[in-house]
Amino acid sequence: MQIEIRPVAESDHDEWLRLFNLYLVFYKASLPEETKEFTFRRLLDPAIPMWSALAIHPETKKPIGLANYLQHLATWSTEDMIYLNDLYVDEKQRLKNVGKQLIEYVYKKADELGAPVVYWSTDFDNHRAQLLYTKVGVRTNKVKYFRSPETY
Ligand SMILES: CC(C)(COP(=O)(O)OP(=O)(O)OC[C@H]1O[C@@H](n2cnc3c(N)ncnc32)[C@H](O)[C@@H]1OP(=O)(O)O)[C@@H](O)C(=O)NCCC(=O)NCCS
Repeated sequence: MQIEIRPVAESDHDEWLRLFNLYLVFYKASLPEETKEFTFRRLLDPAIPMWSALAIHPETKKPIGLANYLQHLATWSTEDMIYLNDLYVDEKQRLKNVGKQLIEYVYKKADELGAPVVYWSTDFDNHRAQLLYTKVGVRTNKVKYFRSPETY
């Protein structure tokens, strides 16, 4: 399915929140409403290097997927890097290359930003996502750690 992918706008608030909430449900996670609102506002702030892209259904013109990504410094390069923080596609719209097109959009934006390295992580057992990721990237042998899992 050929879809439009575009940056999130103020008027997308409710649909962005709907998709973000479904993403949290997928992860059996919850966040305070104020955190979600804070994130949404920051995604729209041109002074903050964090963005969201929405996939728009060609007929309904409604958002059916999102990719949230951010730019950060790096010590091993003079270029910044892009971290793909969140990726979600509506259940009924899956397996139609929407997720793939969202990642390709982030790649394009990363190139435009002069920060072509894009990386992300997923759960060890998220096999469905990995079927897509092996098509658009390479798996590393890194293991992720947190100071404390409860803090994230
Ligand atoms: C993971 C997720 C974003 C994928 O979205 P999607 O739109 O369904 O993915 P796509 O349709 O773009 O994936 C297409 C690619 O996956 C591959 N793929 C899908 N199912 C496959 C299968 N059973 N066997 C082999 N490859 C498969 C396809 O071959 C295709 O690549 P190709 O075009 O090169 O052939 C979506 O399933 C989702 O939102 N899941 C819940 C949230 C989640 O897990 N997010 C990621 C967290 S890190």
